[in-house]
Amino acid sequence: MMDGSTQVHVRNAALVADALAGLTADAKTLSPKWLYDHHGSALFEEITRLPEYYPTRTEAGILHANADALAGLVPQGGALVELGSGASVKTRTLLDASGHMGAYVPIDISRDFLFETAEGLRATYPALDIVPVVADFTAPVSLPAALTELPKVAFFPGSTIGNLTPEGAQALLSGVRAWAGIEAFILGADMVKDTQTLVAAYDDAQGVTAEFITNILRRLNREAEADFDLAAFDYRATWNAALTRIDMELVSNRDQRVRVAGHSIDFAAGEPIHISAARKYTPDSLAALAGAAGWDVRHRHVDAAERFSVAVLTPKA
Ligand SMILES: C[S@@+](CC[C@H](N)C(=O)[O-])C[C@H]1O[C@@H](n2cnc3c(N)ncnc32)[C@H](O)[C@@H]1O
Repeated sequence: MMDGSTQVHVRNAALVADALAGLTADAKTLSPKWLYDHHGSALFEEITRLPEYYPTRTEAGILHANADALAGLVPQGGALVELGSGASVKTRTLLDASGHMGAYVPIDISRDFLFETAEGLRATYPALDIVPVVADFTAPVSLPAALTELPKVAFFPGSTIGNLTPEGAQALLSGVRAWAGIEAFILGADMVKDTQTLVAAYDDAQGVTAEFITNILRRLNREAEADFDLAAFDYRATWNAALTRIDMELVSNRDQRVRVAGHSIDFAAGEPIHISAARKYTPDSLAALAGAAGWDVRHRHVDAAERFSVAVLTPKA
């Protein structure tokens, strides 16, 4: 795997600007989108295979059990457009169930990982047009002009919606609602459940999630001229009942000063940097989110224990 010592150090202006804004705020934050460099994307795939990380297995089971109905939402010759596609592992369940789709459009911010994944998919599905798009879905996403006329279904699995703020989630759903030819939205969302199960899923015994979150500091050292000592921050995952979300933070384990792109950032011992949240839904909160963005929940596919939900949204009349 790549690490900071083997890569060229290229200053990433967007990362520098975002990191300085977040780290100079009263409550320090970093955006989770910076977790996904190539190493981060590979670590996330490792997380999906952890025994504690039930969301991937549960969602994959739901997709498998309902593959025909879900793949059938895409009209003949239409496109399946996936937001935050990563390794597109679950997508294969839908692609395998469909002999009729015209195009698969994986969208991701992790460029090299996206293109590698697209190559693998082309080998397995030679008749399908695979059109990878590098984009940040926290801003409006424009699709290639050739796809404009195609009927399309959006796919947003992985409970990635939970990493967005409520406003961000609504903006994303509204943005997709405005795409030309959009017919449905398949949305994977994790549900509220007991605290122990939730915390264990985000703080695994092998420490892979801690490594994934801490990797953001390694990235800052490489791409934002920072000098974080990775051993001086501890990973913490907590359930925030009021906001129905898991908070993932790195906590400074001593008083320290860090340099980021020529600026000094002071940390007190015990001070956290909020990196990522994983919001959990109830059937009502999911319906409210969808409704506010112009969608009806036509159906919710769930597992037997209702741990996870794959909702089919359709445009409100
Ligand atoms: C939680 S993973 C889910 C991966 C895969 N869809 C799954 O279900 O296993 C989130 C994915 O979204 C991508 N991602 C995160 N933030 C993003 C953003 N702002 N814009 C585009 N992609 C983003 C990451 O690179 C990663 O591949």
